Amino acid sequence: MTKRVAVFISGSGSNMQKLLESMKDDHPARACVVLSNDPRAGGLDIAEAAGVPTEVVRHEPFKGDRVAFEHALTGALAHHAPDLICLAGFMRKLTAGFVDPWRGRMLNIHPSLLPKYRGLHTHRRALEAGDAVHGCTVHEVTAALDDGPILGQAEVPVLPDDTEATLAARVLEQEHLLYPAVLARFAAGDRRPVMLR
Ligand code: GRF
Repeated sequence: MTKRVAVFISGSGSNMQKLLESMKDDHPARACVVLSNDPRAGGLDIAEAAGVPTEVVRHEPFKGDRVAFEHALTGALAHHAPDLICLAGFMRKLTAGFVDPWRGRMLNIHPSLLPKYRGLHTHRRALEAGDAVHGCTVHEVTAALDDGPILGQAEVPVLPDDTEATLAARVLEQEHLLYPAVLARFAAGDRRPVMLR
């Protein structure tokens, strides 16, 4: 049966756009909703233009009460009945209370070769470390930040004159290939990692 996918965003949504574009023809999944915690997220317009329902659950009114925010997320998802959640640049930490019931059904993309550089500023940290290779990872989400079984990775070279911006752009190109490739495989029930090198 076709899997229903909720995509969570906070910003421009370029990964979300690639996921939406990929879910067509004999793909085993379809997007059922795009949810943002930020009403200004540019990705909301992209989703609407693609005919995918959108939801906004702002986090500010909850003033740091993550559990209450997550109850609101669950409420907003309810009538879309997703089977899977794809976090795609969703910039809020989720607690075990939300993550655990979705264990094995929630994916995230992170701009580093995990387990290196969990958290923020991954490109800067790769440059500062003098890494020759950098990249991105899609993984199953667990309650620990940027952790969980790895479902795919793509590598890029770090070039001598790279800045954070040029390196980020090179990684983002690979994110746009990797995430759709992983989702297609995962939604078909195959959890073998996709390695793009
Ligand atoms: C991506 O680099 C993603 O890996 C990171 O945030 C960025 C989101 O970009 N977590 P976009 O919103 O998909 O364009």
